[in-house]
Amino acid sequence: MYGLVNRALQEFICTHHGEKNWQAIKAMAGVEVEFFVRMESYPDDITYRLVGAACKSLNIEPATLLREFGRHWVLFTGQEGYGSLLDGAGSSLQEILTNLDDLHVRVGLMYPALKPPSFSCSDVCEDGLTLHYFSGRPGLAPMVMGLIEGLAERFGKTLTIRQSCDRNAGDDHDSFDIRIA
Ligand code: HEM
Repeated sequence: MYGLVNRALQEFICTHHGEKNWQAIKAMAGVEVEFFVRMESYPDDITYRLVGAACKSLNIEPATLLREFGRHWVLFTGQEGYGSLLDGAGSSLQEILTNLDDLHVRVGLMYPALKPPSFSCSDVCEDGLTLHYFSGRPGLAPMVMGLIEGLAERFGKTLTIRQSCDRNAGDDHDSFDIRIA
């Protein structure tokens, strides 16, 4: 994944657990990159190893860490100069969730080697929708739940999320039933 993601992970861990822990996590993961370049593409394996080492070292379940990281990602991209991309993708939670593929197409103009996930929505109504998530990468459904929560925070909304399809349980994709309060 692009360095932008690894930098967000670094910032997330440093903010919540300190620079010393980040250095220990990097060493445990066997990652020798000193400085992640935002626009450079790194093997996915690096990101997965960092997440795995962080969970071990901080004694956090992967699903918990990924969910918190998803929330952080919305804050991070909002502050790192991508706020206008988020704003342009929709003026309500439903609208932005419907436009996630377009959003990543725009991101791909800046990051040409991007391998984005794909999303679609069904059962869209005033107080909710079902979000379908497709990716070649395994295990990131909890991060999507955090991303949805981060977006909801951005719109000042509270919601409940229930995972309704689960690739880990043999479904062909992940999906989430979202109810907005
Ligand atoms: C302006 C804000 C955003 C930017 C700049 C951005 C950019 C990126 C980048 C660079 C990657 C790594 C992919 C790669 O390097 O091949 C990525 C992955 C991902 N993005 Fe976004 N993104 C944004 C917003 C969102 C939002 C709002 C969601 C909400 C669901 C989302 C969902 C994901 C997921 C789940 C992945 C993990 C990769 C996968 O599932 O295959 N992104 N994004």
